Amino acid sequence: MLIISCLFLLNFLAPTILGLGNVPDQVHLAFTGDLTEMAVVWNTYEDASQDVSYTKQGSSDQKQAKGSSEQWVYNGIIRYKHKAVMVGLDYDAKYDYSIASRSFTFKTLPKDPSSYRVCVFGDLGYWHGNSTESIIRHGLAGNFDFIVHLGDIAYDLHSQNGQVGDDYMNQFEPLISTMPYMVIAGNHEDDYQNFTNYQKRFVMPNNGYGDNQFYSFNLGPVHWVGVSTENYGYYYQYGMEPVFTQYNWLKADLTEANKPANRAVRPWIFTFQHRPFYCSNVNSAECQSFENKIVRTGWLNMPGLEALYLQNSVDMGFWGHEHSYERFYPIADRTYYNDPSAYINPKAPVYLISGSAGCHTPDAEFTKTPWPWSAVRNNDYGYSILTVANSTHIHLEQISIDKNEQNVDDFWVIKNAGFQYQHSESVRIGAKKFPPQKCHIRDLPCMRTLQQINEEL
Ligand SMILES: *[C@@H]1O[C@H](CO)[C@@H](O)[C@H](O)[C@H]1NC(C)=O
Ligand SMILES: *[C@@H]1O[C@H](CO)[C@@H](O)[C@H](O)[C@H]1NC(C)=O
Ligand SMILES: *[C@@H]1O[C@H](CO)[C@@H](O)[C@H](O)[C@H]1NC(C)=O
Ligand SMILES: [Fe+2]
Repeated sequence: MLIISCLFLLNFLAPTILGLGNVPDQVHLAFTGDLTEMAVVWNTYEDASQDVSYTKQGSSDQKQAKGSSEQWVYNGIIRYKHKAVMVGLDYDAKYDYSIASRSFTFKTLPKDPSSYRVCVFGDLGYWHGNSTESIIRHGLAGNFDFIVHLGDIAYDLHSQNGQVGDDYMNQFEPLISTMPYMVIAGNHEDDYQNFTNYQKRFVMPNNGYGDNQFYSFNLGPVHWVGVSTENYGYYYQYGMEPVFTQYNWLKADLTEANKPANRAVRPWIFTFQHRPFYCSNVNSAECQSFENKIVRTGWLNMPGLEALYLQNSVDMGFWGHEHSYERFYPIADRTYYNDPSAYINPKAPVYLISGSAGCHTPDAEFTKTPWPWSAVRNNDYGYSILTVANSTHIHLEQISIDKNEQNVDDFWVIKNAGFQYQHSESVRIGAKKFPPQKCHIRDLPCMRTLQQINEEL
């Protein structure tokens, strides 16, 4: 949010000195979808061919992963994106790896891990990154296994010709060179050049589109799906086609994950995306604003996402964009279930907003009266820790930076073996029930109308 204030602020900050030529920097890891592999991505400012050598700790068998490099240019600054995939890794093992003169370590997860922990947050800036120190310290202490960043990264990856992105990635390098950093684009990742800085800095599992626009991976009892809400948010700029491309992929992905045989092995389906379906922040009635609302409901012939989630019994969803924390009661198309045992065998998806990690516009103010489907609201800086305990128990904690890392929310989602809510018939697809809408400046038909008017004049 608030792009203007961000640019305004950054104009007054001295530019950072670019890194040294061909020394790798911004080294970070990502899952590929196969736990015997690990993707590593890094940057140089000079053309260099660099590979990764890696060795299991305690072994003398050094392996090589061939690196590929790609030049990309943003506002005149030349960078080289390097990528390699370390393969043939043992489960539950520690590895040393090196790229040119630099050395790092990471560990792999056990095969089909029944339990693991994830640090989840959105909307974290390089400047005013209040949670950064805590996240790095807890990550290095082994308190979680990987990170999911729900979009709006660095504020912005492209600011100062991309140097804010470089600084942010280097700031996090001590942590994200040791564990996967899984990301999805937020509105701030649009850099006026079709998300170039986002595209060129991250490589996610490639079963979706464009290396990182949307994708999924299985991990123990959970099928994780990263979904782009920016296809909707920027459809007036990049057209409707990306919405359909993602929707068709997502429908196939969720249908597959929801097949009884797959659900028996991986009972949980979690989605993560930037813009929320629901929220109770006052700022410009965010969740009611046109380009956010259509993510949930669809618009024109673009189908929204909520119905697809409900049809495939998605269990949980993680959102950012609002710079606050908010937990919702299980909710399906504004029907909510707030009985005392709502989170035991939930009758609809359980959603969370965790967008308070820290950035230039903190304290996203809440409405005086929450929506009835809002269960917990908290405006402290912080981040979420999700524990997959096993195939029936999920634990969530919201860590407050303002309150010295105390938990300001703590709850379990429990699902008996074989339980799945059903919502296939009742929910709409696309915009059939979309309420009458004022013509919005960012709505394509509206823009065409304005253009026609101009032509007539
Ligand atoms: C958050 O960060 C800002 C900017 O660095 C700082 O002024 C503020 O005191 C921090 N607040 C908390 C609660 O850590
Ligand atoms: C934006 O990038 C995507 C691929 O990442 C491409 O398919 C699309 O055509 C691009 N759109 C524009 C307007 O450049
Ligand atoms: C799953 O985890 C919960 C919480 O730790 C525990 O109470 C339960 O016994 C576990 N179930 C199984 C089958 O291990
Ligand atoms: Fe955002």
